Amino acid sequence: MSGVVEFDSVSVRRGRSFLLDDISLTIAEGEHWVVLGPNGAGKTTLLQLAGARMHPTTGAVGILEERLGRVDVFELRPRIGFASSNLAQQTPRSEVVRDFVLTAAYGVLGRWTEEYEADDVARAEDLLAAFHIGELAERTFGTLSEGERKRAQIARALMTDPELLLLDEPASGLDLGGREELLQALTEILGSAHAPTTIMVTHHVEEIPLGVTHALLLREGGAVAAGPIGEVLTEGNLEETFGIPVVLTEQDGRYSARARL
Ligand SMILES: Nc1ncnc2c1ncn2[C@@H]1O[C@H](COP(=O)(O)OP(=O)(O)OP(=O)(O)O)[C@@H](O)[C@H]1O
Ligand SMILES: [Mg+2]
Repeated sequence: MSGVVEFDSVSVRRGRSFLLDDISLTIAEGEHWVVLGPNGAGKTTLLQLAGARMHPTTGAVGILEERLGRVDVFELRPRIGFASSNLAQQTPRSEVVRDFVLTAAYGVLGRWTEEYEADDVARAEDLLAAFHIGELAERTFGTLSEGERKRAQIARALMTDPELLLLDEPASGLDLGGREELLQALTEILGSAHAPTTIMVTHHVEEIPLGVTHALLLREGGAVAAGPIGEVLTEGNLEETFGIPVVLTEQDGRYSARARL
């Protein structure tokens, strides 16, 4: 298995329903993928597999040159940064923001009893500053706005300097300014010299930051299209994915879509 993430005929079945149905995909080092699709398409399921949080029912999943099922997932997970609202929901409201980011280095959520390394504290503070929430380091997670939480989650996901970064709906719930600031921060990460290979899930083409190179369109567990973003993001493919006639526009590398009236 050669890619950073490699799916070979992967299906996930629960009862009679297929959450993912025969997905084959290779994501190479340095690529930045967006996964688009309607509610229930299987996007989060796909990220759970890529993040070594779930096993496929059939097929093979390769992550960072290891094969899921033949590797200790607890060794693999620190190499993967994962940000999702699920994780945010598990975070105690009383968690101090600096600790929320910092504890990722120790693979735990919640206050850690050991002493922290000074280097780790400095890295956590640098990441908070990079996302413009440095001044919130002493606040508790429960007091943050939705947008501030999103940024803290991504800072936490980057704490271990991961080789693979997985983001589940990083821009959902943000206002226009918040979304644009977050997309700009993501563009900087994607463009940096040692950027991790990235998979980002979203419902909206407007939430695709500059720097994304590839797209996967999912519908009902199946892949409608996958490949370089310029080839995959077409009106025809979006119509097939979302089930409505679509007008798609692209300007300066950013996309927008609406229903064709
Ligand atoms: N344990 C389960 N048993 C049966 N169905 C499940 C189970 N877990 C998830 N599903 C279903 O699998 C489908 C895919 O779920 P998934 O969370 O991957 O979708 P998604 O694309 O992330 O959707 P959303 O955009 O709403 O987040 C959904 O229809 C969901 O209801
Ligand atoms: Mg989801």
